[in-house]
Amino acid sequence: MLSYDSAVPNGQDQAAAAPLPSASVNSVAATATGAVMADGQTRPQQHHLWLITGPAGCGKTTVAEHLASALDIPYIEGDLFHPQANIDKMSSGVPLTDADRWDWLTVLRKEANSRIREGAAGVVVACSALKLKYRDVIRVAAYWDRSLLIHFIFLHAPAEMLLKRVTARKGHYMGANMVKSQFDILERPREDEIDVITVDASRDAHEVKEDALERVKAMLAAEG
Ligand SMILES: Nc1ncnc2c1ncn2[C@@H]1O[C@H](COP(=O)(O)OP(=O)(O)O)[C@@H](O)[C@H]1O
Ligand SMILES: [Mg+2]
Repeated sequence: MLSYDSAVPNGQDQAAAAPLPSASVNSVAATATGAVMADGQTRPQQHHLWLITGPAGCGKTTVAEHLASALDIPYIEGDLFHPQANIDKMSSGVPLTDADRWDWLTVLRKEANSRIREGAAGVVVACSALKLKYRDVIRVAAYWDRSLLIHFIFLHAPAEMLLKRVTARKGHYMGANMVKSQFDILERPREDEIDVITVDASRDAHEVKEDALERVKAMLAAEG
């Protein structure tokens, strides 16, 4: 898997030697200026991508809005970037396939890279990212922008609880039947996915939001 232990993900020296599309070249140049360290060396300024993940009803939108507002950074709502065909499917209770999700995930990733290129210090994205391979599609964002540190905040709560929340939720195309199908395919983050922070989302919304924010702030303090 990809590693985010350092600001420069593994294998990027080779990647950097390859010609890149002009937008990506700009993104590297735009982030090349950075903090001057004690030894006089410059370290590229780091940017953060916070993915708020988990099945329908876990509180992605609730938490993502809170983080974006508290940190004053842009927020991308994944649900708004599905093609109409996906929305039609989910509205009628038909689960999405892997094939339905690839373009959506790529669009979200590009949107996140764009916000950073436009000058944001970080971006919050609400996106279920249910499977390892979906998270890996998002992790490619660090290939296009070597200043980017990616973290997934996985909101964890029992299926029955999410079913109740989604049943009570008004005005969303995703019905309660999507909770079961999403749990069926959910791949909980593995131990070696070291960029994942798991948050207990079974508590009341205020507690969950504050805990997520504290975890993010701790990460920012550690990573700069
Ligand atoms: N921790 C929580 N406890 C109780 N209700 C919650 C909690 N978090 C979110 N909700 C409510 O549950 C519903 C689903 O939350 P939402 O943020 O839309 O989830 P998601 O974006 O993951 O589908 C919403 O009506 C929201 O107000
Ligand atoms: Mg949502």
